Amino acid sequence: MKYITVIGAGTMGNGIAHVFAQFGFEVNLVDVQDEILQKALQTIHKNAERQVKKQILTEQQVPELMSRIHVFTQLPEALQRADLVVEAATEKQSLKEDIFRQMDQYAPAAAILASNTSSISITRLAAVTNRPRQVIGMHFMNPVPVMPLVEVIQGFHTDPSVTDTIVQLSRQLGKTPCVVNDYPGFVSNRILMPMLNEAIYTLQQGVAGVEEIDTIMKLGMGHPMGPLQLADFIGLDVCLSILQVLHEGLGDQRYAPCPLLVKMVHAGCLGVKTGEGFYRYAAEGKEKTV
Ligand code: NAI
Repeated sequence: MKYITVIGAGTMGNGIAHVFAQFGFEVNLVDVQDEILQKALQTIHKNAERQVKKQILTEQQVPELMSRIHVFTQLPEALQRADLVVEAATEKQSLKEDIFRQMDQYAPAAAILASNTSSISITRLAAVTNRPRQVIGMHFMNPVPVMPLVEVIQGFHTDPSVTDTIVQLSRQLGKTPCVVNDYPGFVSNRILMPMLNEAIYTLQQGVAGVEEIDTIMKLGMGHPMGPLQLADFIGLDVCLSILQVLHEGLGDQRYAPCPLLVKMVHAGCLGVKTGEGFYRYAAEGKEKTV
């Protein structure tokens, strides 16, 4: 494996491109607008400089890393040369199906097609392609350069050799892969999202304020980040989409998204990415409670 195409340059896509480039892969990064791609390159550069301070990279390795990332706004062009394609576009079934059709059409026949989806069925994405045995979930965690886990999701038809390849590749990126089967929310979000949703219900019902809920879970349960801050960090729109998939896919009322979460998404308060969620975020990333 040498050539990786990453589709979507948002929160996750820029992190995935960063990590592949850090470990010597040539990366084609695609998004719908050049503006988004330029912002992604700035983020990657800033995060690479952070890695220099932490002595993970040397100063000299930063331009080398950046030179391995090539940006595109046209999917067919970006897919021309790819051993692996990692789709990290917006969490929406119809959009991902459309992208997977194009991945299948334009990527080389031998390429593995992976999705970073948090909850959408890998089997359903595979079904729109002519190569379901080569389709797999490669679910990185946020922030990608820091978090050590890759949840590897096997679709119904995923070939075991493809799973092995992705497991090896994840190790090559310094990550720990964990192989799971394709059910709504897989393992990570099936367990995490009900907790975040419950924290939002707790806030909605006035049991406690934002700070109190987060402090109790941080200091009392040893979580590095409170659930409301984590929801902001993931993106409230992403949390809502995942809960909808869990609710629909598992048919259990306990996954029904909290009305306050739905209202905040409608109001455009999506968390860190829009500057406002359960907290407000200044340009430098500092926060204060709403
Ligand atoms: P985001 O909203 O930050 O970025 C999505 C990007 O996809 C945007 O830049 C958008 O312009 C781009 N996009 C939309 N349609 C496209 C198309 N047709 N072609 C190319 N690019 C397109 O979303 P985020 O948070 O990066 O999520 C991406 C995926 O990663 C989702 O499937 C999400 O469930 C998953 N994920 C998110 C995590 C998080 O903490 N935010 C954690 C793990 C997975």
